[in-house]
Amino acid sequence: MTITQSQSAPLVLVVGATGQQGGSVVKALSDSKKPYRVRGFTRDNTKPAAKALEKQGVEVISLNLVVEKKDEIYKAFAGADYAFLVTNFWEHVNGEKEIAEGKLMIDAAKAAGVKGIVWSGLESHKKASGGKYTQVPHFEGKAVITEYGRACGVPFVEVQAGLYYSNYLIQVVKDAADGSYSYRNVVAPDVPLPLIDMENDFGAYVVVQAIEAPVFPDGKSIYAATEELSWSEVARQVSEGMYGKQVSFTHESFDEEVDAFVSRGIPRPFAVSITEGYLSFAEFGYFGKNPSGKREGFTHPKRSFAEWVKTADWSKAFA
Ligand SMILES: NC(=O)c1ccc[n+]([C@@H]2O[C@H](COP(=O)([O-])OP(=O)(O)OC[C@H]3O[C@@H](n4cnc5c(N)ncnc54)[C@H](OP(=O)(O)O)[C@@H]3O)[C@@H](O)[C@H]2O)c1
Repeated sequence: MTITQSQSAPLVLVVGATGQQGGSVVKALSDSKKPYRVRGFTRDNTKPAAKALEKQGVEVISLNLVVEKKDEIYKAFAGADYAFLVTNFWEHVNGEKEIAEGKLMIDAAKAAGVKGIVWSGLESHKKASGGKYTQVPHFEGKAVITEYGRACGVPFVEVQAGLYYSNYLIQVVKDAADGSYSYRNVVAPDVPLPLIDMENDFGAYVVVQAIEAPVFPDGKSIYAATEELSWSEVARQVSEGMYGKQVSFTHESFDEEVDAFVSRGIPRPFAVSITEGYLSFAEFGYFGKNPSGKREGFTHPKRSFAEWVKTADWSKAFA
């Protein structure tokens, strides 16, 4: 089924439609047997990704979703039946800003009278670790927004995304001395982490397991993961799929990992946050105590990480 303009079809708002999460949600809506009208958000409707959405029949709205634009956001959300909401912490690395914008979008969706909100949240690692890891702001702010959403009075589902397959494209490190390639991380080589095929599976969790569930699963958290793989297994599968490019895995200490992030241009406080996050994922679980969600109800086959490796563009990673 393609995206329709028919007024009888439910209207789904997709924030971040030009991005990885929102793009996956648009794909799942478009792949569904059910008809949907889709209103996708971007800040720039002239960019190629926005034009491609328009071609698919998405109503593309150019709007900066910030608190200063409250009135425009309320107007742009009007008439919707469902809303998929996501924030992008890494654009501004400001937890308070992320929380304010997340809450504003929830308020606007509520004012629009939606039947359900699907929000891209993440676990509080402060809570999951019992207070041991407190500096993971890219997760903490989202957990605050989840609490706000649960109390907003509108049916509310949180979908947590595992680590994207595509993360592994940007984490390959080339050794300056001998030209060898490696992944380096503070997580021990054999600890499984949940990975998500963002393109194919994330949107299906949102659409199939929330929007199209027989009853909108108010209050539920969905843990979106395609498979669980350890760093050593990731390195092995990338090496096998790359026909000749060998990638090893080096288990780093906390300080080594922080220094490595800093040397790649990441400010030290965020290098600490990312590293603390990884330590907490290993010790307390990426989704906390919650198991990865099953790919139930999906009509498309699973694309394993190994299969994805063979189709992804590694040219920059191995430049
Ligand atoms: N990488 C991972 O493994 C992982 C795992 C779980 C969760 N996450 C979370 O995923 C989030 C990012 O989502 P993503 O991967 O889909 O990002 P992405 O691919 O970089 O796309 C970001 C999207 O958000 C839109 N956007 C950003 N700021 C906006 C604003 N002020 N107003 C309107 N639209 C705005 C962008 O639109 P335009 O640029 O077109 O305007 C774009 O569509 C982050 O918060 C991160 O913490 C990441």
